[in-house]
Amino acid sequence: MLIKIENLTKNYVMGEIEIPALYDINLEINKNEYVAIMGPSGSGKSTLMNILGCLDNPSVGHYYFNKVDVSSLDDDSLSAMRNREIGFIFQNFNLLPRLNSLQNVELPLVYAGTPAQERRERAIKALDRVGLANRMDHKPSELSGGQKQRVAVARALVTNPGILLADEPTGALDSKTGEEIMKLFDELHKDGNTIILITHEQDIANYADRNIFIKDGKIHSDQINTNRTQIK
Ligand SMILES: Nc1ncnc2c1ncn2[C@@H]1O[C@H](COP(=O)(O)OP(=O)(O)O)[C@@H](O)[C@H]1O
Ligand SMILES: [Mg+2]
Repeated sequence: MLIKIENLTKNYVMGEIEIPALYDINLEINKNEYVAIMGPSGSGKSTLMNILGCLDNPSVGHYYFNKVDVSSLDDDSLSAMRNREIGFIFQNFNLLPRLNSLQNVELPLVYAGTPAQERRERAIKALDRVGLANRMDHKPSELSGGQKQRVAVARALVTNPGILLADEPTGALDSKTGEEIMKLFDELHKDGNTIILITHEQDIANYADRNIFIKDGKIHSDQINTNRTQIK
């Protein structure tokens, strides 16, 4: 088992008041699963993503990643774990505008202290994997939305992370380009990657094998997706 969340509750403290965001969540995710986490706005998706991504800790309960209790790590160990094990993909790509594709993809390896030559080779390989070998020198402003998201996927892949964590990855794309990105995720899943997708769109969740629906900070349903969209 890759991920185990046990009796997790998250409250945001704002002065005197506590805002409940997640309540008594239990969840297990295995290696090479492809899971979509769904729910309406305000249901707790981003809060859960932040915890899964080691960006935040639960208020109560435990998060085990590869049997390590993430909730017990100090800030330095948490960020080391995050950099090594989590590949983030965001709705708005989060690329650095002054860096070209190659430099953007190399960045997580810079933080990891990987030597320059190896960094470059791995970044080239990751860009090749997402079909952008011919766009290495382009800056984000010189790329289409779909290409920017591919660079972001390459950046997420370059560290060989334990999970790919994507928050509304098609939210800023037109539907055709969004489908291309979902096709890429499908291939990455077949390559053996573990993918967790956060979305409020059923169409997008339909690409995943398992759908978890959260509502008011609780797991409302957790089911195998029998209607999975087949990629042509
Ligand atoms: N940093 C924060 N401080 C206080 N309350 C927050 C914070 N982030 C989220 N919340 C609250 O927690 C609940 C869940 O929010 P969120 O996880 O962002 O939901 P979603 O991503 O599903 O829209 C909401 O009631 C929201 O207002
Ligand atoms: Mg959100």
